Amino acid sequence: MVMEKRQGREVLGLFFVLMIFSCIRIGEAQSKSFLINCGTDSSVTVDGRKWVGDLVPNNNLTLSSTGVAVNTSTLSGDSIVGPLYKSARIVTDGLNYTFKMVPGNYIVRLHFCPFPFENYNINESSFSVVANGLKLLSQLSVPGEISHKNMYLQNSGGNGSFFLVKEYILGINLDELLIELIPNKGSFGFINAIDIVPVADKLFPDSISKVGGNDVNFNLSGRGIETMHRLNVGGPEIKPNQDSDLWRTWEVDSSYMITANAGSEIRNSSNITYSSLNDSSVAPLFVYETARTMSNTEVLEKRFNMSWKFEVDPDFDYLVRLHFCELVYDKANQRIFRIYINNRTAANNFDIFVQAGGMNRAYHQDYFDAVSSKIDTLWIQLGPDTAAGASGTDALLNGLEIFKLSRNGNLAYVERYDSAGSSGSRSKNWILWVGIAAGIASVAILLVIFILVFYICKNRREKSSDAKNNSPGWRPFFLPRAFVNGTNNAKGTGFQNTNGSLASSRVGKRFTLAEIRAATNNFDDSLVIGVGGFGKVYKGVIEDGSLAAIKRANPQSEQGLAEFETEIEMLSKLRHRHLVSLIGFCEEQNEMILVYEYMANGTLRSHLFGSNLLPLTWKQRLDVCIAAARGLHYLHTGAERGIIHRDVKTTNILLDENFVAKMSDFGLSKTGPAMDHTHVSTAVKGSFGYLDPEYFMRQQLTEKSDVYSFGVVLFEVVCARAVINPTLPKDEINLAEWAMKRQRQRSLETIIDPHLQGGYCPESLEKYGEIAEKCLDDEGKNRPMMGEVLWHLEYVLQLHEAWMQNNNGQCSFSSSQALGEVEAKDAKEVATLDEEKNSSNLKMEVEE
Ligand SMILES: *[C@@H]1O[C@H](CO)[C@@H](O)[C@H](O)[C@H]1NC(C)=O
Ligand SMILES: *[C@@H]1O[C@H](CO)[C@@H](O)[C@H](O)[C@H]1NC(C)=O
Ligand SMILES: *[C@@H]1O[C@H](CO)[C@@H](O)[C@H](O)[C@H]1NC(C)=O
Ligand SMILES: *[C@@H]1O[C@H](CO)[C@@H](O)[C@H](O)[C@H]1NC(C)=O
Ligand SMILES: *[C@@H]1O[C@H](CO)[C@@H](O)[C@H](O)[C@H]1NC(C)=O
Ligand SMILES: *[C@@H]1O[C@H](CO)[C@@H](O)[C@H](O)[C@H]1NC(C)=O
Ligand SMILES: *[C@@H]1O[C@H](CO)[C@@H](O)[C@H](O)[C@H]1NC(C)=O
Ligand SMILES: *[C@@H]1O[C@H](CO)[C@@H](O)[C@H](O)[C@H]1NC(C)=O
Ligand SMILES: *[C@@H]1O[C@H](CO)[C@@H](O)[C@H](O)[C@H]1NC(C)=O
Ligand SMILES: *[C@@H]1O[C@H](CO)[C@@H](O)[C@H](O)[C@H]1NC(C)=O
Ligand SMILES: *[C@@H]1O[C@H](CO)[C@@H](O)[C@H](O)[C@H]1NC(C)=O
Repeated sequence: MVMEKRQGREVLGLFFVLMIFSCIRIGEAQSKSFLINCGTDSSVTVDGRKWVGDLVPNNNLTLSSTGVAVNTSTLSGDSIVGPLYKSARIVTDGLNYTFKMVPGNYIVRLHFCPFPFENYNINESSFSVVANGLKLLSQLSVPGEISHKNMYLQNSGGNGSFFLVKEYILGINLDELLIELIPNKGSFGFINAIDIVPVADKLFPDSISKVGGNDVNFNLSGRGIETMHRLNVGGPEIKPNQDSDLWRTWEVDSSYMITANAGSEIRNSSNITYSSLNDSSVAPLFVYETARTMSNTEVLEKRFNMSWKFEVDPDFDYLVRLHFCELVYDKANQRIFRIYINNRTAANNFDIFVQAGGMNRAYHQDYFDAVSSKIDTLWIQLGPDTAAGASGTDALLNGLEIFKLSRNGNLAYVERYDSAGSSGSRSKNWILWVGIAAGIASVAILLVIFILVFYICKNRREKSSDAKNNSPGWRPFFLPRAFVNGTNNAKGTGFQNTNGSLASSRVGKRFTLAEIRAATNNFDDSLVIGVGGFGKVYKGVIEDGSLAAIKRANPQSEQGLAEFETEIEMLSKLRHRHLVSLIGFCEEQNEMILVYEYMANGTLRSHLFGSNLLPLTWKQRLDVCIAAARGLHYLHTGAERGIIHRDVKTTNILLDENFVAKMSDFGLSKTGPAMDHTHVSTAVKGSFGYLDPEYFMRQQLTEKSDVYSFGVVLFEVVCARAVINPTLPKDEINLAEWAMKRQRQRSLETIIDPHLQGGYCPESLEKYGEIAEKCLDDEGKNRPMMGEVLWHLEYVLQLHEAWMQNNNGQCSFSSSQALGEVEAKDAKEVATLDEEKNSSNLKMEVEE
C-alpha cells in the first residue's frame, strides 16, 4: 500500500466541523491512499504507483469473503488491458471491502475491465455498489455502460477491450469506508481495482450561485459526488500522473462542442499563478495554460455562443465548475461575456480579469443547477454580453467540470425504462428489438423483390458497357426516377417555351449538339464510362480542351423538359469545392445532355475494394470522408432550402486527379422534406445497405437520412467491403449491422481493412467508430448534423496527424511540440473552412 504523507492539521473547531466534509483531520493521524489490485496476492506498479493485491495481508483492509479471484494466468486471449486489469474479483453472493481510514474527503475510483472467465460471461454481470450506505451504482452492467456519459470509459487502443472507471468524491465521517458489491439475483458482480485518494484541501465551497437564483448555502454533508465530465478546454488530455496527488484525468473538450469552429484554441504557459492559494488542488496549472476563445467573431456571425453539450442523468443536482485564466488581456473590460447553463443565464457581465484579479491568474467559478427528470443534457454556453460595454465580443474558457450530487442517499442512475426486476430493462429492449426486426423484415422482403428486379434490368444494360470500360469503377450518375419519369404534360408544353426562359436564367454554359458530338466523337461507345437509368455517360473533351463527363438522356427517356430545366437551374446554383460541378447542358433536337466536370480517379468504392488499385492510406481515407462530409454539409445548409442528397454511397463519391473527393448525383435530390411524387418507384429512393431504416419505415425524408447513409459510408471506408455481401456468414452480410455490432463492443479494429494495419492512430480509429455509430442511430433525431460529423472527422484527422508526427505509436498530444503543430494546423483548417464558407456564400449571392 502506498502511504502518501499529508500534513495534518489541528482541529480548531467543534466536533461537527468534522461532520461537514471539511478536510480537517484529527491530531497526527494521516489520511492515506489505498491502491488495491483486486483478485490477487501480487502487486503491480503503474505510473509509479504501487497497486497492492487485495489478498496481501493488510491491517487496514478486510474482505468479508473472497468471492472468486481471477487472474490472467488462467486466461488466454489478448483482451486484457494493461497490467492493472490482469486480475479481478468476481462476486457471486455479495462482498464487502472495509477500509480503516481517517475521516475526511476522499476521491474513490472503481475500475471495471470486463474479460471472459470460465462460466462467467462478464457481459451478463449486473450488480450494485454501495459505499457507507450511499448507493453509487445500481444494476451496473459494464458493457451496458458504454456511452459517452462516462468520461473514464477508455478503449484499450487496439484490441477491442475497454475499461470503465467511475469516480466519486465522498466525505467519510466514520473511521471506515465500507464498499459493498451486491450482485442482482441470479447474476454476479466483479471489480478489477479500487483507488482511494485523500483530498487534502477543501475542493468545494460552502456557498454557491444557483443558476437563475440567488446564491445558496451549499452543504455537501451527507452527500456524495460523482464526476461526470472533466475537460481541459482547448488543450490536450491531462493524464492522471500530471495532476498533482489527485490523479484525475482531464479530457479534450472538442468532441463536446456543438458548433464546429465556434472557438479557437489559444495557449500561453508563462507565469500562471493561482488566484487563491487554497486552490492548488482544484486543478493543475496545465488546465489554465490552454483555452478556447471566440476569436472567429469577425468571420462568422457576430452573435453566437461557444457551446458544449453533455449527457447527464436526469433528476439530479449538478455542480458545474468553470475554470478561467485570462491569457491575453492585461487590463479589465476587454473581454466581457455571459455564461449560460441549460439555456438560462448563470452570469452576466463576466470579466475574467476582474474576477481573478488580474491576468494569468487561475480562477474558478461554481454554479449549481438542478436538472429535471425530463432532461438528460447539460448545455454550457458562453456568449457576448451585448449590454456590457466591452471593447470586444469575446469569451474564454480554460476548463470545465461537471459533478453530479447525490439525492436521498443515491447517486445511481436508474434507467427510465427500468422495472423492478433485474432483467426488466433487457426484456423491454428485447421486445422493442423484436418489433423493429419484424418491421424491418417485412420491408426487407419488399426490398429484396425490388432489388432483384432492379438487378436483372441493370445487369442486362450494364453488361455491354462494362466489357468496354475498364476505367476504375466509374459509375453512372443515376437521375431520380421523378426526373426520369417526368410528367406527361411537361413533355408536350416544355419544348417551345423553354428557350427564352433558359437563356435568361443564369445557368451553366449552353452547348450546341454539334459541340457535344465533337466532344464525344459522335457518341462513340468506346468513350462510355458509365450507364444509368438516365442514359449513358461519356468521357469527352470540350472545346477549351478540358475533360468532361457528358451524360446523355436515353432518346426514349420520358424525362420532361420542364423538369430538366428545373434541375439544371438548381444544379448550377450548387457550387462547392466538394460537389461535382455542372459545367453546362445541351438541349437540342430532343436531346437532353448534362456536362459535368470529369473526375479522373473514379469512384471512392473502386479505391476501397474490388479492383487492384492501390489501397488508400488512413489519412487519404479521412481526407476523402472529410471532403464528402463538407459537400453534404453544404447541400444541407448552404443552399437556401436544405437539399437532401438521398443516395449517399461510395459510388457517388468521386475522386479527382488529386484524390480530392466530391459528392456527385445530388441533382436528383429533392429540396426540402416534401415528397410530391407518390409513384412507387420514387417512394423510397436510395441504395440497399445504405438506406435509413427510419426513412424506410416512415417514408419521412430528412437530412438525417443522408447522415445515416454517410455513417454506412464511414464503415465501408474503414472495412473496405461491400455494404451487402450475401456470400458472407449471416450476421456479416449487412455491413451496417455487422460493423455496428463490433463498434458497440468497441472492437471495430478487428474488422478493418488489413491494409490499414499499423498505419493508423488507434485513438483516431476509436473516435471515427464513435462518429459512425452516432450516424447510424436508429432515430434520426439522435443522429448528429453533417456539420458536427465534419467537425468530429477533422478532429480524428488531427489525432492521426499528431500520431504520424510523433510516430512513436503514442496517439496523444504528449509532446508540446506536437501540440503546437496541431494548433497551427487547426488554425489553418478553421481559416480554410471560413474561406470556403465565405466564398460559397458569395457564389450563392451572385447566382441568385
Ligand atoms: C494467478 O493464479 C495462480 C494460481 O491460481 C497463482 O499461482 C498466481 O500467483 C496468480 N498470479 C497472480 C498475478 O495473481
Ligand atoms: C494502517 O493504518 C495505520 C494508521 O491509520 C497505520 O499506522 C498503519 O501503518 C496502516 N497499516 C498498513 C498495513 O498500512
Ligand atoms: C493487443 O494484442 C496483441 C496481441 O494480439 C498484444 O501484443 C498487445 O499487447 C495487445 N495490446 C494491448 C493494449 O493489450
Ligand atoms: C456487508 O456489510 C453490510 C453492512 O454491514 C451487511 O449488511 C452485509 O451483510 C455485508 N455483506 C457481506 C457479504 O458480508
Ligand atoms: C451542513 O449540514 C450538517 C448536517 O446536515 C450541519 O450539521 C452543518 O452545520 C451544515 N454546515 C453548514 C456549513 O451549513
Ligand atoms: C504569453 O504571455 C506573456 C505575458 O504573460 C506575453 O509576454 C507573451 O507574449 C505571451 N506569449 C504568447 C505566445 O502569446
Ligand atoms: C510573473 O509574475 C510575477 C507576479 O505576478 C511578476 O512579478 C513577474 O514579473 C512575472 N514574470 C513575467 C516573466 O511575466
Ligand atoms: C483559504 O483557507 C483559509 C483557511 O485554510 C481561509 O481562512 C481563507 O479564507 C481561504 N481563502 C479563500 C480565498 O478561500
Ligand atoms: C437548450 O437549447 C437547445 C437549443 O436551443 C435545446 O436543444 C436544448 O434542449 C435546450 N436545453 C434545455 C435544458 O432546455
Ligand atoms: C446563447 O445561448 C443562450 C442560451 O441558450 C440563448 O438565449 C442566446 O440567444 C444565445 N445567443 C446567441 C447569439 O445565439
Ligand atoms: C461480451 O460482449 C462483447 C461485446 O458485446 C463481446 O465482444 C464478447 O465476446 C462478449 N464476451 C463474452 C464472454 O460473451
